[in-house]
Amino acid sequence: MNVTSESKADAVREMFNGIAHRYDFLNHFLSLGIDTIWRKRAVACFDDLVGKSVFDIACGTCDLAIQIAESDSTVKVSAEDFSPEMVIRGQEKVTALNLQGRITVKAGDALNISHPDEIFDGVTCAFGVRNFAELETGLKEMSRVLKPAGRMVILEFTTPENRVIAAIYKFYFTRALPFMGGLISGKPQAYSYLPESVYAFPRPEKFISILENSGLSHIKFTPLTFGICGIYTGVKK
Ligand SMILES: C[S@@+](CC[C@H](N)C(=O)[O-])C[C@H]1O[C@@H](n2cnc3c(N)ncnc32)[C@H](O)[C@@H]1O
Repeated sequence: MNVTSESKADAVREMFNGIAHRYDFLNHFLSLGIDTIWRKRAVACFDDLVGKSVFDIACGTCDLAIQIAESDSTVKVSAEDFSPEMVIRGQEKVTALNLQGRITVKAGDALNISHPDEIFDGVTCAFGVRNFAELETGLKEMSRVLKPAGRMVILEFTTPENRVIAAIYKFYFTRALPFMGGLISGKPQAYSYLPESVYAFPRPEKFISILENSGLSHIKFTPLTFGICGIYTGVKK
């Protein structure tokens, strides 16, 4: 990693450490609870999870990892995040649900994944890739640990195409959300970073080509909720 990437990674890690105590509440409050439905749609992208292993990177407080584990009683999930505070909260939730036998939570960096090549049947990332200091490095790492023909599922914010929806979204996302998020978390910068990072993220066509270059085929993009969010799926070549 170069110096710029390192300082971006440090800033992102510190930001998530700072909001971890309020992260779940704010996530559900600011998305009006829709984030849970989006994660459910992401889990449904796996046709069959029986006996499978899934790697959830940038797992945050483990909402997606938990939904994956709850969708099938035989699936095993490895959940990792580079923010120690998010990992602590994720671990607490996993233990409270008595899922520690099926979800392993630990600190890990998407840009330098500590697992060998091609060991997971599935790889997921919800609202994480946008924060990677080096997007392509992270995606190549995610692809590296996926078995051939294994599925990658990425959930990420997008910007709506419809002009009216886009205008309403822009107001909510760049004005109302940073104000409320900042007030509740005490970290206004984190909630102005959110819209900035979404607007700076590649549009679906571009992101699909980046996924292709990361070793995936059969890439599909499914927009959700007026295109404010979307699911990318791909299969390891
Ligand atoms: C918006 S949160 C999403 C958390 C969770 N996946 C969810 O659905 O709520 C983004 C997460 O990405 C993590 N993250 C960003 N860059 C990372 C990296 N290089 N390696 C691991 N985690 C990273 C942050 O620490 C943060 O927890």
